[in-house]
Amino acid sequence: MDVQKPLSISPSQFTPPETLRVRPLLLKPQWMNGLSERLLVSHYENNYGGALRRLNAIRARLASLDWPHTPVFEINGLKREELIAASSVILHENYFDSLGGHGDNPPSGTEEPPLELSQALERDFGGLKAWRAEFTSMAKALAGGSGWVILAWSERFGRLINQWAADHAHNLTGATPILALDMYEHAYHLDFGAKAAAYVDKVMANLNWERIGARYRLAIGEGADEDKFFLPYGAPVKEEARISAEELRTALESNDNRRPVLLDLCLPRDLPRRIDMLAGASMHAPGALSSWVEELPRDRPTVVYCICGFQVSGTAVTKLRERGYDARALVGGITAWHAIGGTTVPLDTSTYEEVP
Ligand SMILES: [Fe+2]
Repeated sequence: MDVQKPLSISPSQFTPPETLRVRPLLLKPQWMNGLSERLLVSHYENNYGGALRRLNAIRARLASLDWPHTPVFEINGLKREELIAASSVILHENYFDSLGGHGDNPPSGTEEPPLELSQALERDFGGLKAWRAEFTSMAKALAGGSGWVILAWSERFGRLINQWAADHAHNLTGATPILALDMYEHAYHLDFGAKAAAYVDKVMANLNWERIGARYRLAIGEGADEDKFFLPYGAPVKEEARISAEELRTALESNDNRRPVLLDLCLPRDLPRRIDMLAGASMHAPGALSSWVEELPRDRPTVVYCICGFQVSGTAVTKLRERGYDARALVGGITAWHAIGGTTVPLDTSTYEEVP
């Protein structure tokens, strides 16, 4: 599966072809089952985002190389680092996609794989319980070290396997990751200290088997309508109602009269989760839309963002578009903006409405 594909966002004419766009969080970080928002967001923004930024920087450098005249040590170094960063990006996207509840419901911890995957686990491991025992034991055996444990589909072997990976670029040739479990210390230390085994158990209690099952169907070539499982909850379905963080950065760098107006929407209960905002944005309460909507210019596009790009920005964009505004929701919200290294300013709530 192309890592860009599940959101069906077509390549933008505004971003260089070597730029890989950030993938939004699908999990709701504030409502997980024993994994803190601080841990998950730090991991996403700094480690996943770091790998993505590194990959894009390497790709840009590679695109500018005069290959026949570049020293071999530079070629070797760049291509090695490209492979490591690219594999880290893909495995982190798999990891984060594999976690989370459904819509507004937190992970139950009792969910089971969908039928096709359940049957495959039965066929290849003797059942879910036996697979889980092997997978979690492998992960706990990496405690104090680092690496990944990966449930992967091997076309050559015709079966699912549990694979150990010493680092990001260590994968069984030709196998497709279905579920990747991050065993680097950065994945758990903030919440669990050195108790890696407790972290593994919590990850297993947060799995989103619907999305893992969709990945399995895609891997075996039976996926038909799987994209819908990878759209953030509440985000606009129509592509023209969304904008990627990379597209927004490019649009904000332009100084023409089509520079977007930025709206920062936040539910009152979520204000304590916020410390910063995009420069030039004005902050509003979604529930007070009728009081601020008429101030929006109609001759410029409006970009609406919230924390992670779920229903807060999605619902507002739908309402604005119904009123004829050229409004788009920022995919992944300010969290994705952080992950691409976008700059912010301290939060300014002076324009925020009191909502009863
Ligand atoms: Fe990680």
